[in-house]
Amino acid sequence: MGNQRTQVAIIGSGPAGLLLGQLLHLAGIDNIILDRVSREYILGRVRAGVLEEGAAGMLAQAGVAGRMEAEGLPHEGIAIAFSGQRHRIDLTGMSGGKRVIIYGQTELTKDLMDARLAAGAVSIHEAEDVLPHDFDGDAPYVTYSKDGTSHRIDCDFIAGCDGYHGPSRQAVPAPAIHTYERVYPFGWLGILAEVPPVSEELIYANHPRGFALCSMRSRTRSRYYIQCAADEDVDAWTDEAFWEELKRRLPAEAAEQVVTGPSFEKSVAPLRSFVAEPMRFGKLFLAGDAAHIVPPTGAKGLNLAASDIHYLFEGLREHYRDGSLAGLDAYSARALARVWQAVRFSWWMTTMLHRFPDTGEFGQKIQEAELAYLVGSQAAATALAENYVGLPY
Ligand code: APR
Ligand code: PHB
Repeated sequence: MGNQRTQVAIIGSGPAGLLLGQLLHLAGIDNIILDRVSREYILGRVRAGVLEEGAAGMLAQAGVAGRMEAEGLPHEGIAIAFSGQRHRIDLTGMSGGKRVIIYGQTELTKDLMDARLAAGAVSIHEAEDVLPHDFDGDAPYVTYSKDGTSHRIDCDFIAGCDGYHGPSRQAVPAPAIHTYERVYPFGWLGILAEVPPVSEELIYANHPRGFALCSMRSRTRSRYYIQCAADEDVDAWTDEAFWEELKRRLPAEAAEQVVTGPSFEKSVAPLRSFVAEPMRFGKLFLAGDAAHIVPPTGAKGLNLAASDIHYLFEGLREHYRDGSLAGLDAYSARALARVWQAVRFSWWMTTMLHRFPDTGEFGQKIQEAELAYLVGSQAAATALAENYVGLPY
């Protein structure tokens, strides 16, 4: 058994774990990150692309905002399309000047990984059987195996940044945790293609055939989604079939502007809302997808990981600098207050924009009334705008 010691053991090298690791490193707090897969595998994941100013600020605080500031696309509005029309929501005008930044999660994960490598901070990849232990006591530790050797990391705290399927939340005794979940009766079929986006801003489309989203990664790389069955077979979709279905779901003026081309990534993602309460168990703190999942309709997953890490880092820094546990004791309640606002918003956007099997005629009319109110009321559009750009930390 190889024994190591650190102040904060971080399980998970996604955005949450990497951001926390970088902030702790800059604050002189020793930490080790463990992940079960390689850096290359993590960088191969295709994920979200919309950053709130709060998340962008966290990257700046971590000293990794340079490429995002140079290459990220500031956006001041989105379009909501339905009944053949596109309606712009002036995000910036209705949120006191806030914007969102289009910058792929893969890119910011790379920026954080590069910073960690440059800092010489310890990350252990392809670690197997990672498990948190004794986090309800004063001497927590993490075990893992690598290359056939068992290891133990003694630490002060454990950050469970290991995503929805990770071991941290699952290590919490059932009576100590309560979960809330809604699984949606559909998924998103998404593609990436090296073609210019159909529009300068994102288009969220409600259509009788199903939801569609027009997004992007840059001015030359587009990201499109269409609502599909939760168990849709991605291999049943040729690029041509995807493009035709996407166009059917967009207003005619937008559909004729779509530039098609070969996809280089195509996948189906399920949609669920999930929250675990609390987010702290003694010396174990859950952050990011380990604690909550939102349907991507509101583009909140990555942004919630950032605000969780803001609260957790502040608590850890306060502990090591001032000897106070106040921030750590407040972590779960503070994080969950913001999580539930984003969960609500993501649920609302999903409910308003998707076709549900049990909607029925009454539900259909309610959805149409919701959309008409949204684009006809300053108050309704302002409510969407302030949630989309991100509520305060
Ligand atoms: N042992 C070690 N690491 C693990 C284990 C395990 N048993 N299980 C999962 N992990 C790692 C995964 O390999 C992954 O790299 O934990 C990491 C979790 O990262 P993410 O899933 O990206 O979660 P998070 O950092 O919270 O970021 C949330 O990612 O999934 C998107 O929509 C989500 O944009 C949001 C963001
Ligand atoms: C994306 O670009 O992947 C994206 C954008 C907005 C969303 C969801 C996904 O709401």
